[in-house]
Amino acid sequence: MRLNPALTGPLQYPFAALDEARSRAVAAGLVPIDFSIGDPHEATDPAIRRALQESVEERSRYPRSEGLPELREAIAAWCGRRFGVGVDPATEVMPALGSKEAIFSLHFIALDPTAGRDVVVVTEPGYPIPERAARLAGARVLRLPLREANGFLPEPEEIPSATWDRVAVFWVNYPNNPTAAAAPLDLYRRLAEHAARHGYLLASDEAYSEIYFGEPPASALQVPDRSHVAVFNSQSKRSSMTGYRSGFVVGPPPLMRAYRLWRQLSGVAVPEFIQRATIRALAGEDHVERMREVYRAKRRLFLDLFARRGVRVAGCEATFYLWCEVPGEESSEAFATRLAEHGVIVAPGAMFGSAGEGYFRLALVPTLEECRRAVDILEEVL
Ligand SMILES: Cc1ncc(COP(=O)(O)O)c(C=O)c1O
Repeated sequence: MRLNPALTGPLQYPFAALDEARSRAVAAGLVPIDFSIGDPHEATDPAIRRALQESVEERSRYPRSEGLPELREAIAAWCGRRFGVGVDPATEVMPALGSKEAIFSLHFIALDPTAGRDVVVVTEPGYPIPERAARLAGARVLRLPLREANGFLPEPEEIPSATWDRVAVFWVNYPNNPTAAAAPLDLYRRLAEHAARHGYLLASDEAYSEIYFGEPPASALQVPDRSHVAVFNSQSKRSSMTGYRSGFVVGPPPLMRAYRLWRQLSGVAVPEFIQRATIRALAGEDHVERMREVYRAKRRLFLDLFARRGVRVAGCEATFYLWCEVPGEESSEAFATRLAEHGVIVAPGAMFGSAGEGYFRLALVPTLEECRRAVDILEEVL
């Protein structure tokens, strides 16, 4: 039987190797502290949990693919408050099962190989889903390296000019996973203009927009011409709601109409009780500010530790990640394996593409108490 080669090929979901390292630590009697996956351990705000519980009705109908009007309005209002932009809730907003689902689906919506639009540009190191989904959809993938010397921002001039008319989607992700870099609004402005000129879609994954420690990061929503821009965001990180699977996409009306049809065909729609909990989450910023304070305290612990132990932090502008240089001569995988043996699980940079070699990523998701325990261990190991 032949299967889609994008599912059977050598490219494995990157966290499989770390799972094995964790198993070995457990077998050795340790209780590992896991900094490898960006799944916050912080509690979801009680008001959001209550909103979910109170929204479970006696009968739960099929949810509509385009989402409740109240949720689309809440999303548009939040975008207005946060980024100072006007978004039409009726034609420009679509709730999604986490931003991941909308990110994945985009490749089945925005590619047109028959018209020669079959290239997807992704940045590397990076979140693996855009590349995996693009391959599943039969696209050709171009990886654009994010270099520390350029502030981990993409350098699109590296792409041959003849290629641009084949590009269907250009992905950017800021604040960035894994490098923790943020993007200036000017980058979005230039890319959005370029996208409009060449007829491709600038897809901006902003899942970490609310995890910041200085100025609030810019959004691609703030560019003057949004005709070729789609923005993806999520409650997962902002409100520690990963398990709810609640995100959204904001984009131009023709794209949103195609999303709606795709979602009707594939049967993906956000359950209404999740939508109502999301409305509650979007209504206030207090819980988000409290959450940022917790991440700020964890960052302080590790930034101080790394300063003491001579580990260079290459990126820490925003997100709950620290992107650090592997000390000494070890590969990132050997370094991560060594830490795992002591019960501290980090992600080797090579897991995010070859441009990530030489670095490791720490997701500050364990509790403050667990972070303190990990700092004590690393004080010895580093
Ligand atoms: C860069 C990036 N984008 C999107 C997502 C998807 O998050 P969710 O589907 O929970 O919104 C993640 C998850 O870790 C991520 O790291």
